[in-house]
Amino acid sequence: MKTLTTLGEFIFECQAEYPDATGALTSLFSSIRLAAKIVHREINKAGLADITGAFGETNAQGEEQQKLDVFANDKFKSALAARGVVCGIASEEEDHYVQFTDDHNMNGEYVVLMDPLDGSSNIDVNVSVGTIFSIYKRVSPKGTPVTMDDFLQPGKNQVAAGYVIYGSSTMLVYTTGNGVNGFTYDPSVGVFYLSHQNIETPKTGVIYSINEGGYERFPMGVKQYIKYCQESDPQTKRPYISRYIGSLVSDFHRNLIKGGIYMYPTTTTYPEGKLRLLYECNPIAFLAEQAGGRAIAANGVRILEIQPEALHQRVPFLVGSPLMVDKVEQFLKAFG
Ligand code: AHG
Ligand code: MN
Ligand code: MN
Repeated sequence: MKTLTTLGEFIFECQAEYPDATGALTSLFSSIRLAAKIVHREINKAGLADITGAFGETNAQGEEQQKLDVFANDKFKSALAARGVVCGIASEEEDHYVQFTDDHNMNGEYVVLMDPLDGSSNIDVNVSVGTIFSIYKRVSPKGTPVTMDDFLQPGKNQVAAGYVIYGSSTMLVYTTGNGVNGFTYDPSVGVFYLSHQNIETPKTGVIYSINEGGYERFPMGVKQYIKYCQESDPQTKRPYISRYIGSLVSDFHRNLIKGGIYMYPTTTTYPEGKLRLLYECNPIAFLAEQAGGRAIAANGVRILEIQPEALHQRVPFLVGSPLMVDKVEQFLKAFG
């Protein structure tokens, strides 16, 4: 029988390839793995316990927080603070970045930016949600409190990024800039096993994912591209299939495996786009590129090149199979 590789073994083997590695990133991943297990456990009994529904407060962006948003944020934050390798975090659920100011954490060399629960409006109806994380080396000196500059780095500086998808099974998918690997959680033993080695996204696909309710308010290039997706052409397998879950992690994960494009353009409701650059788009863009895909903003700029200006900055986001992103880019150039 084939022996299964656990996430812990895989990380350890990868670390062994880097003689200078200090083990700090390995420790950081153990924090994420632990918090993911705890959030998995809570989400799986969400219908039973009093943990669905609104928390009664709004977050930095004026969005209503769900109880599980707050729960997931607390669990990831405390797991990340526990090992002395992270000097601060930024989160969708925190107005400001959080400094970890005790001595052992101030010497930590990493910052983590996260969307602790992505797609949280799906929780109450038992639909897949996720956690997204993005990891950078700090730019401020070790031993000092973390600063805004540590968080406002372009996505191309990420040292690692990934997501946890709490779906029909729970998976952790991550990259350290050397390809993308996916691990499926076996809750009976409490272990993530390598199940999707070196994920490569198909060059093209037949799925397009967008909240089409906003159609009237999309830029002309996106409207025209949607029409293109809907036209018949057996050679290019059109009309394409429309799939939209409403949690970025789930929509992206499906398209990553099957081939497809995900779009959240500017709309008149969200003139900057809805998704957040630092903890939604950058980590997903890093994964997409590492799997052979592309991720751009509506003006065609590579997401990972954008110099962030604010923690909760939004950006129009187009990501997926490279030939499909090329195509929508042509439409955006032609029609604006
Ligand atoms: P979050 O739950 O972290 O606020 O993220 C929700 C995001 C994203 O996951 C999803 O793709 C998008 O919002 C859905 O927005 P619409 O409901 O406007 O389609
Ligand atoms: Mn989100
Ligand atoms: Mn969220």
